[in-house]
Amino acid sequence: MEDTLINIKNTALSFIWEAEDRKSLEETKIQFLGRSGKLTLALKELPKLPIEKRVEVGRLANEIKKTIEEAMEEKMSQVASESVVKKRESIDKSVPAIMPKIGHMHPISQVMYETIEIFKSLGFQVADGPEIESDHYNFEVLNIPKDHPSRDTQQTLFLDSAGTSYSPGEMLLRTQTSNMQGRIMEKTKPPFRVLVPGKVFRYEQVDASHGFEFWQVEGFMVDKNVSMSNLFATLDYFFKQFFGEKTKVKFVCHNFPFVEPGAEAYISCVVCKGKGCSFCKQTGWVEILGAGMIHPNVLRAVGINPDEWSGFAFGTGLSRMATLKFEMDDLRLLTNPDLRVLEQF
Ligand code: PHE
Repeated sequence: MEDTLINIKNTALSFIWEAEDRKSLEETKIQFLGRSGKLTLALKELPKLPIEKRVEVGRLANEIKKTIEEAMEEKMSQVASESVVKKRESIDKSVPAIMPKIGHMHPISQVMYETIEIFKSLGFQVADGPEIESDHYNFEVLNIPKDHPSRDTQQTLFLDSAGTSYSPGEMLLRTQTSNMQGRIMEKTKPPFRVLVPGKVFRYEQVDASHGFEFWQVEGFMVDKNVSMSNLFATLDYFFKQFFGEKTKVKFVCHNFPFVEPGAEAYISCVVCKGKGCSFCKQTGWVEILGAGMIHPNVLRAVGINPDEWSGFAFGTGLSRMATLKFEMDDLRLLTNPDLRVLEQF
């Protein structure tokens, strides 16, 4: 009985070593370990042995079964990796590769970088600032005291101050990139020209033309004898560069507490070129930014003498500019992460 078992083991192992593929290995498995395989049949003879032999032979049979199974497994993985190598060798290296998919900048980033490039050519430097801001920089320093009615137009998201050293209402999500006017002006000696792109937040009902988070870009310059005509010329140049030479710009008086005089700028509608369409509500114009001469109170609050220096400031919605540039009919597309949407712009 022992000899038969050892014989079975040796034949099985030589079959396994010689097998070249998965199929012949599987056949060998059936031939030896299958229901009517050689080893299985031999094991059926076990009960016929005298009881004292049975245990010993049984142990040997189990060892043999294990050896065969292990050899089989090892050979199986060897055969599998060899077939991968064979497959690799059959790859035709001269066939052109599939181009990897390369992403592109988000529409907001595209508009932001284009804006930066234009203002850089006019000598503006770019600055970044915090989105979590104090009431001081978002409002107070900008000539907007606590009880000022213009606060109502900037639905503010205040941060919970419980458990912090801040008093309630002191910390907020910035509602405008104008927050950087104070931060930069109090640290920088004029003359300077600065551009601040960034995200702002307001407690707004979200719809096709309003988001609770959106992007703005703030610009301001302070120098000797800066006038309203410098502001108009700068913005006119910018819009023509950005939306095309034919773009018309008009300014309308408007009040912002941190500028005096203040204005709102409109550009001729990019969709109908000023003829009137549903996009511009048949007016031919779209509102695009707020601007004005920096209020003497603001200059004073940051330690700049308004009798010596003057400056202008403007703030425009980058999200607005993106929707106009790409003629999007819904602002929410800008925060839609679906690549099928983003790949269109
Ligand atoms: N910060 C203003 C807003 O968000 C825009 C603005 C900026 C107006 C600078 C005047 C000067 O509405």
